[in-house]
Amino acid sequence: MGKYLIAITGASGSVYGLRTMGALAAGGHEVHAIVSPWGDHVIHEETGRPFSSWIKELGLCRDRVYAPGDLAAGPSSGSFALDGMVIVPCSMNSAGSIASGIAGNLIHRCALVSLKEGRPLILVPRETPLSLLDLRKLTSLAEAGAVILPASPAFYQKPQDIDGLVDFIAGKILSRLGLEQRLFEAWGSPLKNSPWGSEAARGQP
Ligand SMILES: Cc1cc2nc3c(=O)[nH]c(=O)nc-3n(C[C@H](O)[C@H](O)[C@H](O)COP(=O)(O)O)c2cc1C
Repeated sequence: MGKYLIAITGASGSVYGLRTMGALAAGGHEVHAIVSPWGDHVIHEETGRPFSSWIKELGLCRDRVYAPGDLAAGPSSGSFALDGMVIVPCSMNSAGSIASGIAGNLIHRCALVSLKEGRPLILVPRETPLSLLDLRKLTSLAEAGAVILPASPAFYQKPQDIDGLVDFIAGKILSRLGLEQRLFEAWGSPLKNSPWGSEAARGQP
């Protein structure tokens, strides 16, 4: 099983981050989490509850949830060996800080550590439209080794509801981390008679 750091910043689409955390925890992975103050604000806005109320439901361990201002926390160091980090959703503010190499909080520091250590780093922007400045910072991040995975759900899966859209993005993230995902059916390989896609496989929410 792997060791993953998932960060939620203050962009819309907080449920993508929550679903990714839940799916990894449900898959038996060690999940470390950081939520920025604006990330928590948006979680509250979009789910009606703060992040603290999701921790248990997502199957996360409280000791592995770090304060964004705690630059002395374990993941701040390159010796804290992670199999991957995902910022989902990733605000343009956080993308800009990381692209500039500014480690003003633990999320930005960990992203910069992932890049310097050559470890997988996935950023999931939600912003639209993108300004030239946004495009430039995302390009810089891709050039530095990050994977830019926009929160753009596909419709060929014929999603029945919001869960279907969220599962598609969380499943894409798991795939890009090199993990098996059963949140949605990969094109051409139906998961008939599979328990996946159920609440249990997905984790919460
Ligand atoms: C309800 C709400 C939705 C927001 N959605 C986005 C968004 O989709 N993309 C984005 O880049 N910023 C968005 N913002 C603005 C960010 O929260 C703001 O830039 C903040 O400084 C991000 O800080 P952080 O990167 O430390 O989380 C949103 C703010 C609020 C209150």
